[in-house]
Amino acid sequence: MVSTLDGAAQHDGRSQPISTAADMRIFGTLRALADVVVVGAETVRREGYRPARARADFAAMREAAGQAPAPAIAVVTASLDLDFSLPLFTSPLVPTLILTGASAAPDRVAAAEKAGARVLAAGDGIGVDPARAVQALAGLGHTRLLTEGGPRLLGQLVAAGVLDELCLTVSPMLTAGDAQRIAGGPAVTVPQRLGLVSMLEEDGFLFTRYARS
Ligand SMILES: NC(=O)c1ccc[n+]([C@@H]2O[C@H](COP(=O)([O-])OP(=O)(O)OC[C@H]3O[C@@H](n4cnc5c(N)ncnc54)[C@H](OP(=O)(O)O)[C@@H]3O)[C@@H](O)[C@H]2O)c1
Repeated sequence: MVSTLDGAAQHDGRSQPISTAADMRIFGTLRALADVVVVGAETVRREGYRPARARADFAAMREAAGQAPAPAIAVVTASLDLDFSLPLFTSPLVPTLILTGASAAPDRVAAAEKAGARVLAAGDGIGVDPARAVQALAGLGHTRLLTEGGPRLLGQLVAAGVLDELCLTVSPMLTAGDAQRIAGGPAVTVPQRLGLVSMLEEDGFLFTRYARS
């Protein structure tokens, strides 16, 4: 996740204006380490998500670890209001996953599957229970899970206690306005304390990694 100094997680609906090349390098590296990238449907819609690509630098490491050449993208959605004609669904290296509830609209589930996506139910209604999503992915052998947010999804992962680490880029920018913070939704009862694992700097950007104590 990337945040401005005043806590904005996006500008004009995108994270690109508050990011930088080094941030994108780290973003790509984290993807290259992951089995699956878990992302909220609004981020997919706004950021025009494409399939993850295979990276030559990581090919041998991934193969040795028994990982696919690229991580699967897992889209968390209740509505399945997604454009299933996009390359994210029709031509990924690894089939795109849809995490939704057991009561999701059958016609949208059918459309997703027809496009080539694999639909996993991880909740009783139309919504996804974060802990069940983690279990469903583990059931497919996916245990290195990377979430790229957005804030509404990340807030639920925090509240459910399934976030082990946070890689946060602090962008040396101020945007004011009313953009979301990196995690939204209802507050947790007691603030969760993380420990700082590492911090790098380039061009005024701080690249931090925190882990749950
Ligand atoms: N700063 C950063 O690092 C960063 C990272 C990512 C995104 N962003 C920015 O954040 C914005 C989008 O984030 P957002 O918080 O509005 O949305 P989001 O978390 O990306 O997606 C929200 C959507 O995800 C689905 N969803 C979330 N929780 C669910 C659950 N428990 N069960 C079923 N579906 C669930 C719903 O999709 P349906 O509506 O399809 O049901 C919901 O509308 C964009 O502007 C993006 O640029 C910033």
